[in-house]
Amino acid sequence: MRRPFEVNLDGWVDRTVNAIREQVGSDKVVCGLSGGVDSSVSAMLVHKAVGSQLECIFVDHGLMRLNEPELVMNSYKDMGLSVRHIDAADLFLTELKGVTDPEQKRRIIGKTFIDVFEAEAKKIGGVKWLLQGTIYPDIVESGTDGKGLVKSHHNVGGLPEHMNLKLLEPVRDLFKDEVREVAKMINMPESFVKRQPFPGPGLGVRCLGELTKPRLDTLRQADAIFREELKAAGIYDDIWQSFCVLLPVSAVGVADGNRTYGQAVVLRAIHSLDAMTAEWVKIPYDVLDKTAKRICSEVKDINRVVMDVTSKPPATIEWE
Ligand code: XMP
Repeated sequence: MRRPFEVNLDGWVDRTVNAIREQVGSDKVVCGLSGGVDSSVSAMLVHKAVGSQLECIFVDHGLMRLNEPELVMNSYKDMGLSVRHIDAADLFLTELKGVTDPEQKRRIIGKTFIDVFEAEAKKIGGVKWLLQGTIYPDIVESGTDGKGLVKSHHNVGGLPEHMNLKLLEPVRDLFKDEVREVAKMINMPESFVKRQPFPGPGLGVRCLGELTKPRLDTLRQADAIFREELKAAGIYDDIWQSFCVLLPVSAVGVADGNRTYGQAVVLRAIHSLDAMTAEWVKIPYDVLDKTAKRICSEVKDINRVVMDVTSKPPATIEWE
């Protein structure tokens, strides 16, 4: 993807921090943090500019990976950000009960996020600005540049109209690799600089079919094993995005001579530069073999592991 304008990262941080300080003045800013590099870098830039005038909210939708909410909150604390952790997992699952259509799931997750965020932001009071970690590809893929909608990314649009806040999007001109460069420049922890992109709706777009706590837990366990094995093989940091997808189908298998009727997960790993196109990663067979054996023996109910060997296009990176 090409950008119709140039971005020079030399001196970009100072220019951006100064611009934020000038724009915001003595106003209060609120920010929804997702644990991802885009929103975290945005928050750190505003924190540099206006310090404690920034208040962050982490809406925990229960769709994060294994142990991720705790890890993310600890990192924010270390970075000196003031963050409210709102555990809304039960509410999200209630709203999503019985829903299987991908776009409807996305809409519900987006709307519930807005409701929870808005209620919490109101408690802060006197807020004038909403900070968002929107990056350039989000704007293009969400059709806000006048082209067709691919998927309704839940972090683009919606909030400002509801809340009557002015919008602050310090990284909206940047691609993901540039956001990572900025993260390095401002000395953010490695865990953020290297963190693979993770979609706003989280495991909601990787757990196909109805989202239930047991199905999400199954996916979380399989996903954690895949990540562990990629790390053990020393290839995790070279992969742009890797994850498991839980399929809404059952498959026949055999265990100890008995028939099983279990669930199937997909392993997905891709290389990309800007998420607009992607190539599937040729993971060594021994890593795949160990991952599949571990998933089937350690995750209850899973008896089949398959690999997604499609690039983007024609597939998208996420399955929903
Ligand atoms: P797709 O599946 O459209 O994904 O090829 C492109 C990139 O965007 C991520 N993604 C999202 N990120 N909110 C986000 O912040 C979303 O709703 C969303 N949906 C997909 C995806 O993980 C990939 O990196």
